[in-house]
Amino acid sequence: MERTLILLKPDCVQRRLMGRVLARFEDKGLNIIAMKMMRVTPELAKKHYAEHVKKDWYPALEGFITGGPIVAAVVEGLEAIRVVREMLGATSGLKAASGTVRGDFSSSRQMNLVHGSDGPAAAQREIALYFRDEEICAGEPTIAPWLRAADE
Ligand code: CDP
Ligand code: MG
Repeated sequence: MERTLILLKPDCVQRRLMGRVLARFEDKGLNIIAMKMMRVTPELAKKHYAEHVKKDWYPALEGFITGGPIVAAVVEGLEAIRVVREMLGATSGLKAASGTVRGDFSSSRQMNLVHGSDGPAAAQREIALYFRDEEICAGEPTIAPWLRAADE
């Protein structure tokens, strides 16, 4: 089982798409094992987007991500990091395939609704930025035997 961090970004919250986006992850069979609504501070934004801080578009990104409440969640499942990224689609909503969250709901490169960690190291680092260990509610749901075979 793999864990990944998702953020429902401020545009997702303001556009009242939280439920529809979370439903996609639940429908897929992924487990939501931690979740909170919060504000991203400029300090947290710089840590989260450390790889982008020097880019010329970073100030606009920081303004966006700190501009309203977000929902942070830890999602768990088989190959969850890749599966979630594929469900989100390409970074720009204009390029993201139809059927993906960004492809279906976003027409922007910046306002692309949802963040998903891009690899195991990022997932571990990002989960620790948003959640303490005791905030994560691990444990298989009772429906697990009906979501995949025992040897998967
Ligand atoms: O989120 P993802 O990993 O797909 O994209 P990224 O290249 O790591 O960029 C992080 C976030 O910065 C994106 O999700 C966009 O919200 C934003 N971004 C932006 O505002 N302008 C760009 N030219 C590229 C990305
Ligand atoms: Mg990225």
